[in-house]
Amino acid sequence: MLVCIDEESAQVFAGKRVIVRADFNVPIENGEVTDTFRLEQGWKTVQYLVDIGAKVIILTHIGRDPEESSEPVAHALKQFGNVHFVPDITGDMARTATAAMQGGEVVLLENIRRDPRETENDAAFAAELAALGDVYVGDAFAASHRAHASIVGVPKILPAYAGFLVRDEVREIDAARTPLAPSLAILGGAKFETKAPLVQLLLEKYDNVFLTGALANDVFRAKGYTTGRSLTSKELPDQSILTNPRFLAPVDVTAEDATGHAAVKKPDVVTADDKIVDIGPDSVALLAPYITKAKFILWNGPTGLYESGYTHYVRQISELVEKAVDGGAKVVIGGGDTIAAIEASGAKKQNLGFLSTGGGAMLEYLLKGTLPGIEVLNR
Ligand code: 3PG
Ligand code: MG
Repeated sequence: MLVCIDEESAQVFAGKRVIVRADFNVPIENGEVTDTFRLEQGWKTVQYLVDIGAKVIILTHIGRDPEESSEPVAHALKQFGNVHFVPDITGDMARTATAAMQGGEVVLLENIRRDPRETENDAAFAAELAALGDVYVGDAFAASHRAHASIVGVPKILPAYAGFLVRDEVREIDAARTPLAPSLAILGGAKFETKAPLVQLLLEKYDNVFLTGALANDVFRAKGYTTGRSLTSKELPDQSILTNPRFLAPVDVTAEDATGHAAVKKPDVVTADDKIVDIGPDSVALLAPYITKAKFILWNGPTGLYESGYTHYVRQISELVEKAVDGGAKVVIGGGDTIAAIEASGAKKQNLGFLSTGGGAMLEYLLKGTLPGIEVLNR
């Protein structure tokens, strides 16, 4: 059972130094945060703690390059509240700044991965972090698949609670592990070899499973079609998947030829020069009745290369999903790429059901039903 912050009395947090491990790992370009979705989703925990007079110390990682700074995140968070950036993690500056905090104040420390001991899950580092606070709140759902010091080490030392985002993500993705029938899963992305166990599980739990994105290219290759310059995986789906009556794949694709000209064609006439960049209209038509009748829809992975402007079919699917939500269907959508593609398509993301902040974490939670960073918050 997750012990969430609002199930305990406010005095656990009021006036206390509360370490909030958030996942504010957001895209940053030229020193500016370009997508604030994770900040919006994570702020409600911070706001609650501020309102009850806690001293909130936010930890996050940024990217994988230890040179990256979390300072732009502190700037972006100012739209929600007064956040003070401290360019240190467990040194003198961080210790002094956190010791001087008043109730209701918020600080964001430097990118926690600047210290290599974070990803090593070093016990001494976890102890240094824990010494900055009195209580720990785990709210970094999207990083909960990482057994790092700030995710699994600190909550073993301090009294630990789940934040609101972790609570919501776990509730919604648990629901996606036992979907109401009729159910539909739409799974895209790349690297079939890493997704094969999840595809198997979805085929057991969902009435229909549609593979799209680069995973569909793997399906075409497994069927013996040419995929040309399209992205494909090291491993391909086997017959047990291809012949499963629940399994669905695109019936047409958008492909760019050698000159970059895009055309819709059937998958079996893709040539060696072609690059598959999206699905086509017949695939949306195939999918539409499944979306319309579904009581539960899980969607992870865009249909095509949305970064190159191929968002037309994501938009059509989004509109169908929105209608399904209006009609009472439960919907869980995730993967940063999926949400970015929906936004790029011009569709409204507000009416699409639950949007997960998790990428890899969401897929791993779907598969395993727990994560290292969630386990430590269970009691
Ligand atoms: C993510 O963006 O998927 C999470 O923040 C985890 O980041 P990582 O894959 O670098 O551990
Ligand atoms: Mg990642």
